Amino acid sequence: MYDSSLPVRQRLKQATEPAHVSLEARIGPLATQTAYNEYLRGLFAFRSVIEDWLSTHGAKEIGTWTPQNIASYLHEDINDLDLTPLSVSPVSWASQANESFAMGVHYVLEGSALGARVLCKQVEALGLNRDYGARHLWAQAQTLESWRGFLTVLSDHKSDEDALIAGANAAFKAAAGAMERAANV
Ligand code: HEM
Repeated sequence: MYDSSLPVRQRLKQATEPAHVSLEARIGPLATQTAYNEYLRGLFAFRSVIEDWLSTHGAKEIGTWTPQNIASYLHEDINDLDLTPLSVSPVSWASQANESFAMGVHYVLEGSALGARVLCKQVEALGLNRDYGARHLWAQAQTLESWRGFLTVLSDHKSDEDALIAGANAAFKAAAGAMERAANV
């Protein structure tokens, strides 16, 4: 069970930790160009569909927070490296998705900026950087402004907590599915 005395973000973190651990293990260290290409194709497939979904079902701009979209950087990275994007189908969450569910999805996209600095260090060794091949990682690592803004909005959000957690886990599941497809196509 989740510890209800924790702030909502900590509860979200706790509830999605297994999904994060397993996704991180699936991606592994980005130590070779092959590993990076697979990650990049998977992440682009995931983010392009989810960012698109959030543009109609999610939040636009609240207070100091504007959701950070990186699909266009991912697309440029794919082009830099001459990769073929995976074909993607739209998500099918519409019926169960309320505002809290969408906030859970936002949590996964915004929170992923926290890991970007670690990944920048890994891929620098492959000759990738802010201007070539890893633009999306530098865009995320550059500032945690969007993440901080999101946390403020989240703490004020009167949430349907089950839906919040369901949204976050659904987003992690979509990311894992995209990574799996990238490994097999
Ligand atoms: C190998 C790839 C990855 C690595 C090495 C990594 C690493 C990290 C690290 C170091 C943190 C910060 C943890 C902390 O401050 O306690 C973090 C947080 C987070 N990451 Fe990842 N990550 C990876 C991939 C991803 C992906 C692909 C997603 C999303 C689909 C994601 C979503 C998140 C989220 C939501 C958080 C915020 C957790 C919180 O509430 O603090 N991560 N990650």
